[in-house]
Amino acid sequence: MKDVIRSKPLLEDARKKLDSNDIYHSFHIDSSKEFLDLIKGKTYFIRTYGCQANVRDSEILMGIFEAVGMLQAKSYKTADVVILNTCAVRENAVDKVYGEIGNLKGLENRKEKVLCVSGCMVEQPHVVEKILDKHSHINLLFGTHEVQNILEYLELLFLKKAKRVVDIKSQSGQVYEGLPSKRMNEYKAFVNIMYGCNKFCSYCIVPYTRGRERSRKLSDILAECKELVKQGYKEITLLGQNVNAYGKDLHDGSSFAQLLEEVAKTGIARLRFTTSHPFDFDENMIDIIAKYPNIMKQIHLPVQSGSDEVLKLMARRYNSASYKSLVDKIREKIPSIAFSTDIIVGFPNETDEQFLDTLKMVEYVKYDSAFTFIYSKREGTPAAKIEDNVSDAIKHDRFNALVKECEKHIEASSKKMVGNIYEVLVDGVSKNNKNNYSGYTECNKLVHFPSNDEHLIGRIVKVKILESHTYSLIGELIDE
Ligand code: 5AD
Ligand code: SF4
Repeated sequence: MKDVIRSKPLLEDARKKLDSNDIYHSFHIDSSKEFLDLIKGKTYFIRTYGCQANVRDSEILMGIFEAVGMLQAKSYKTADVVILNTCAVRENAVDKVYGEIGNLKGLENRKEKVLCVSGCMVEQPHVVEKILDKHSHINLLFGTHEVQNILEYLELLFLKKAKRVVDIKSQSGQVYEGLPSKRMNEYKAFVNIMYGCNKFCSYCIVPYTRGRERSRKLSDILAECKELVKQGYKEITLLGQNVNAYGKDLHDGSSFAQLLEEVAKTGIARLRFTTSHPFDFDENMIDIIAKYPNIMKQIHLPVQSGSDEVLKLMARRYNSASYKSLVDKIREKIPSIAFSTDIIVGFPNETDEQFLDTLKMVEYVKYDSAFTFIYSKREGTPAAKIEDNVSDAIKHDRFNALVKECEKHIEASSKKMVGNIYEVLVDGVSKNNKNNYSGYTECNKLVHFPSNDEHLIGRIVKVKILESHTYSLIGELIDE
């Protein structure tokens, strides 16, 4: 059998509105017995890049694999199925994957294996052509809308002996319910509440790789959350590229505020949500966050830039004044709130003054944590057409100055915590010191404390903070 090319991505298709009659489906395994016998006992290895949406997709792929008796391999070298589940948000994420694709070429018996690149990167047409042309050892490419079809692809490759399979649609696909999943953490769970993004910020590839917004039905999300509580999960993070827009496409009155309240009422110990777009953040949401103690007082509120001109070119739909007034309004109702953010420096033609406006915004909000990025040109986005006159050296200088400014406030907020007691959800042994355990506070600060009691893992304990560093705190366990 030859190549099976079912579909290839087309960026302009990603903008197309959805046919609302054909969105909701339920997942079933309907593979042939012959294939199920063949696949049982085969091993898989998934490497996940990028954001939580990809992590969740990988959990679903693992769930499907385990449902048909496949086993997790310890290394990609021995696995029968290797999947690189990729990110396209910046060029450096893409470069890493090309390095990994090169490594797969040297695998022994690679002709009998499925070597796959999935996720956001292959939603870009030029990437697909490059992989098909230059990396022919990759024999499976599927996109973000096709995760639920993985068994069909494996059947084509392992049983029907297809040489290569390509299935990548750009127009957003369906919402599948009933997907199996193997969660990577036993205490902290991610729950998708919606897929895709309609914002089309001018620099961003995500609306093209993940398609238009589709919300899951409130009842389906709630059922998943209730089940997680029953299984003993301590923390749920509601996931979406723009969670505040949840429900707008359902036209049944569902809203993010309502969803947040319903999930808070399930009794989950900790409830988080990400990512919030400032444009869609309304008063109701603030009131619900304030009302429920189990909704963590931490909001990721990407600002991207502090300059009104740059925000306009970015198509962010707010300006620095409206962003600040949202921050003020939230702080007024929830004084203990911690803000984190995403900031891009070096947007095409960004001037020194415009960059200074970003520094001023950081000074104003005093973020508790910040993800800072140098602008990366994404082919097919409107910003990619703007000619850029900012040199790499200037971009790097601005980036360093921004990190310094952010760290000043992160350090200050951590320092204020010294001497106080906080609740920490224990993750496990600290990465750098096996005599310590670590976990996160309500406001998402990383805390290490000496202990060798493994029963603490997955529990919420009280820790008194003794010392603060920029990105972590040291404390001691308080006996109750
Ligand atoms: N260049 C740099 N950073 C980007 N982001 C999104 N697109 C780009 C890009 N082209 C950042 C934004 C977003 C975060 C997830 O990634 O800050 O909030
Ligand atoms: Fe990208 Fe903007 Fe959507 Fe965030 S809101 S995913 S930055 S387009």
